Amino acid sequence: AHQWRGVIREYADRLPMLQGAPVITLHEGGTPLIEAEQLSERVGARVLVKYEGLNPTGSFKDRGMTTAISMAAGRGAKAVICASTGNTSASAAAYATKAGMTCAVLVPDGKIAMGKLSQAIAHGATLLQVDGNFDNCLEVARKLAESYPVDLVNSVNPARIEGQKTASFEIVDALGDAPDIHCLPVGNAGNITAYWRGYREYAESTAGVSGQLDPVATRTPVMWGFQAAGAAPIVKGHPVQDPETIATAIRIGNPASWQQAEEARDTSGGVIDSVTDEEILDAHRLLSSTEGIFVEPASAASIAGLLKQHAAGQVPGGATIVCTVTGHGLKDPQWALKGADGADIEPVRVAAEAYDVATALGLDG
Ligand code: F0G
Repeated sequence: AHQWRGVIREYADRLPMLQGAPVITLHEGGTPLIEAEQLSERVGARVLVKYEGLNPTGSFKDRGMTTAISMAAGRGAKAVICASTGNTSASAAAYATKAGMTCAVLVPDGKIAMGKLSQAIAHGATLLQVDGNFDNCLEVARKLAESYPVDLVNSVNPARIEGQKTASFEIVDALGDAPDIHCLPVGNAGNITAYWRGYREYAESTAGVSGQLDPVATRTPVMWGFQAAGAAPIVKGHPVQDPETIATAIRIGNPASWQQAEEARDTSGGVIDSVTDEEILDAHRLLSSTEGIFVEPASAASIAGLLKQHAAGQVPGGATIVCTVTGHGLKDPQWALKGADGADIEPVRVAAEAYDVATALGLDG
């Protein structure tokens, strides 16, 4: 018996930049790819959900943090910094702790989910709430990393993208081929960049150029990325000054990997579209109530986008479609406690009596 070793060890031959670096891992990756029967029926295709909320800190960021922190440790770094809408800070704080480094995080004032904030604090990060949005935080973090002895671990750090590309490897390994279409939420656009790189690298290795790697996929999927309507700079074609969405993880107006996201879209023949907060919350509810999968709102953007594409007649019948859901529902649980009408959902109170409970459950009739 042996456990999943984390993405660096599982995919060592495909992560050349990590060679010789110490391995700082919490055994991230190896997340389930789940058949979504209800969704499949609804859109007339085979839909699978890559559940990234099951990573050690509850989001896909761990894949890129194991690599970024390992590289930083290899360089002898003692301190790391990041800007974050929450998940990056939770992940950076955990991996920095594991590596014995200090971690500073810059988060937008007041717009970060409680679960994520608690994680950064629990892992001992120095947390600063910046008077500004994520884009402002990232600008400051980049300047600090240029002028002071701290390593930047945002996705502009190349090691982050390298680690995150392993999600594509896992999907191809599980399916035996690439899917036809891949859906995911887009914020700072690092993840769509990473998935596209992962799919490309697996597909290119089938050409057998190096001869060292096993042949795997023969294809790459069409990439469908989805931004929140109030924070959709790539869809609009210009930066958004005051991004707004309940999906705080992707409340970003000027994505760092903008160009790479467009490249993934264009070379794959895909789209980057937007989904409204209402569509996001509907998809969030659908996932939890019909598939048994609890995600944070930003994650549901991939599902909301798939449903929008289906409504527009864009989903080819019988296609294999993977939707990445990026973060766990417990990160930002408040949204589950609202009904479709927006009203608060309160638990029903009963006496500790079997009869009362049976009555409340409608078992007595
Ligand atoms: N989903 C979740 C749950 C996220 O936390 C993020 C990004 C994304 C999607 C978008 O991914 O930025 O690679 O396009 N969160 C970053 C953070 C910005 O600071 O945690 P992306």
